[in-house]
Amino acid sequence: MKNLTKSVIIFSILGILIYGCKQDVPKPTKAKELTANKIHTKYCSRCHSLSFYSSSDRKVKSLDSLVTRIGTCNSKIGLDMSEEEITKVANFLGKDYYKF
Ligand code: HEC
Repeated sequence: MKNLTKSVIIFSILGILIYGCKQDVPKPTKAKELTANKIHTKYCSRCHSLSFYSSSDRKVKSLDSLVTRIGTCNSKIGLDMSEEEITKVANFLGKDYYKF
């Protein structure tokens, strides 16, 4: 009997957690609906064009520091991209421009 009560409580808590999480799915932001390339055109290219990332002026040397640097620009311009969006842009720039 005790075990049954325990199971009921555990399943109720799990149910609440799962239901709660479903309720908690973040609404897509504007940046999330765009491809990395479009995010860049819309929010980033007013300061540096895509060609900057394949020029000799670039400083970033690894995918990790690319993520960090995009994070810095992201907060500097108040864009508020999620980690997922930052990674998406980093993967795009890393693959097509930095060639990591
Ligand atoms: C208000 C202007 C501004 C905007 C908008 C901006 N950045 Fe930057 N970004 C800078 C400046 C300034 C630097 C430093 C340039 C330097 O080191 O000479 C920089 C550097 C970078 C670098 C490092 C390049 C390298 O290899 O040296 C990356 C990557 C980058 N930005 C990505 C982004 C992305 C992605 C966005 C859009 C989400 C963005 N930036 C938006 C100003 C901006």
